[in-house]
Parts: sequence; C-alpha cells; structure tokens
Amino acid sequence: METLREIVRKRTVNRAPDKSPERIAGMFDAIAPRYDLLNHVLSVGLDRGWRDRAVDALALPDHARVLDVCTGTADLAIATVMRARGASVIGVDFAGEMLRLGLTKVRNASLDRRIRLVRGDAARIPVADGSCDAATIAFGIRNVAEPDRALAEIARVLKPGGRLAILEFGQPAIPGLRSLYSWYFRYVLPLIGRLVSKHKSAYSYLPASVGTFPPPSEFAGTLTATGFSHVEAVPLTFGIVYLFVAERR
Ligand SMILES: C[S@@+](CC[C@H](N)C(=O)[O-])C[C@H]1O[C@@H](n2cnc3c(N)ncnc32)[C@H](O)[C@@H]1O
Repeated sequence: METLREIVRKRTVNRAPDKSPERIAGMFDAIAPRYDLLNHVLSVGLDRGWRDRAVDALALPDHARVLDVCTGTADLAIATVMRARGASVIGVDFAGEMLRLGLTKVRNASLDRRIRLVRGDAARIPVADGSCDAATIAFGIRNVAEPDRALAEIARVLKPGGRLAILEFGQPAIPGLRSLYSWYFRYVLPLIGRLVSKHKSAYSYLPASVGTFPPPSEFAGTLTATGFSHVEAVPLTFGIVYLFVAERR
C-alpha cells in the first residue's frame, strides 16, 4: 500500500501547498478559536506528552532564556516555563489571532512575567544575535515557506552550544499501523477538522503539508547545513511524530 508521503507527493508534483505568509497566517487566524480543542482531540491527548518530551530534551539550565518559534497559542511556551526552573520564553508567530488566544492563556496562568509573545516571521526573528540559551518549534517548521532561512535565523539568535528541539509529524514505520494512520490522516482528520473548525481547507492542508515534509534523515541534513551539530531524530509514538534535537555549532 502507498504511504501518505507517496500519495501526497504524486498529487502535489505540480502543486506543492501554498505557504505564502498571508495564506498560512490567515488560515491559522481563522481556525484559532478551535485550534487547541482540535489539537487535543485529533491527537487523542498525546500532544501534551510530545511537547513535554521536547522541553525535557533541551536539558535547560535554571533561568534559561528560550525562543519558541511558531508559538501559536503558546502551549509549548507554557510547558517550558512549567517544566524548567526560572525559564523565560519569547514566543514568535505571525498569526495575530493565535497569539491573542495564547496571551489569554498566559495571563490566566499568571505567567505573563515569564512568557512574552511577539508577532513576527520565522524568516526574520525579532530577537538579538546569540541571546537565547535554547529554541523550540512545535508543528510549525513544515508550514514555513523557507525553512532553511528560519533555521539559520534560529542559529543566529542561539548562543553557541544552545539546544534546539523541533516537533514535527512523521509516519509510523510499522507497515500495518502506517496504513491505518494514512487512512486516519487522509480521511478522518480532515473531516473532523472541517466539521469542528468550519474551515474548508485547513485540515486538508495538514496531511498535504506533512506529506511534502522531508523524511527525518533529510531534515536532519538540513539542520546540519544550517549551523547545527549533534543532530538526533527521535521517533515518538511509533513515528507519528519526530522530535529533532540539535546543538548550535
Ligand atoms: C500548527 S501551529 C503550531 C502552534 C504551536 N507551536 C503548537 O504546538 O500548538 C503552526 C503555527 O506556526 C505559525 N507559523 C507558520 N509559519 C510561520 C512563519 N513563517 N513565521 C511565524 N509563524 C509561523 C502559524 O501561524 C501557526 O500559529
């Protein structure tokens, strides 16, 4: 049976998903009110554990300063300050509505002294050179139009030796599970996503964007080429998600 990546690659040979900032930011702004709910439902609650694994992989020193790119509604920023003593986070995203909801969550949790949310593009991160101890991106890099540029930007703002943790969807390696997952991802997830978010295409874009994201070994090569070393690609939940961990050279 064909894998999700093969199916989507065939369908998108001449039509890679449009990742223009206007389209991506507009799409996330439109689904923002239902984003967290759908995240938890569609991942059957596993997303929280994946974010915790990413934070733990950073092995943060006390009072670390962390950059969270594509922060969305700030779930990873919140997980970071909850798990790392004295850590503070700058969350960057270009979708104003996602940030607005994130800010409400941050304020409700009385974390506004430790988490600052800033509107900006991953290709031009509004943070000074060498000013962060670590960086994260959860389920964001596949949406970025120029991922190499965003990774080079992250390398710029990290201190030498600073760690980066990236979560992104992958595909399970076990054949039976892989087929089941492809079916869920192609048919069930877009249907539930469309019904709950009322957005026509956002949850069809999700499998399309995952299907065109490079395989873990290729993405690990991109990390090496953009200024990182000690790159590891760790499959989580049978490879449904990959955790990439790397160190700024
Ligand atoms: C799938 S959401 C992930 C949000 C959050 N990290 C999480 O784990 O739930 C992807 C986010 O990336 C943001 N994004 C995509 N491309 C971006 C870019 N080039 N610059 C800044 N934000 C971007 C979107 O606006 C969206 O909020």
